[in-house]
Amino acid sequence: MKIAIGADHAGYRLKDVIVPLLHKLGHEVSDVGCDCADSVDYPDYAIPVCDMVVKGEAERGILICGTGIGMSIAANKTPGIRCALVHDLFSAKATREHNDTNVLAMGERVIGPGLAEEIVKVWLETPFSGGERHQNRIRKVMELEDKQALHP
Ligand code: RB5
Repeated sequence: MKIAIGADHAGYRLKDVIVPLLHKLGHEVSDVGCDCADSVDYPDYAIPVCDMVVKGEAERGILICGTGIGMSIAANKTPGIRCALVHDLFSAKATREHNDTNVLAMGERVIGPGLAEEIVKVWLETPFSGGERHQNRIRKVMELEDKQALHP
């Protein structure tokens, strides 16, 4: 799978754990940064990762900041993106099965690297259930993007 990943200054250390894991699992990784503790703005990393997913240049995106909250808010402003902020294994599985999320957000200040690695593995491995009720709910959410485009 092609995976785009980005982090801010509060998430780049966890990104440095996740990138080698992705390589080990056989994925192709596009790392948009950042790579040091100098203060940056999380939207500057969320936006390029989400653009790559929407354009089909990456199948999935992973975003990391201190809490994961800023990254998930920014990601979910991008039409075509369904981003879940995940800090437990149950949600990692459920958000793929029920929400067909294409971007995963995590907070480096919230969870340790061991749990984050397991979350990434489960989130990448779990397919969308394809259930009609879930498709219907996702469609209703995605239709909001069309409404917003017509009535900004
Ligand atoms: C940076 O201090 C922090 O605000 C950011 O990483 C993130 O947690 C925002 O939601």
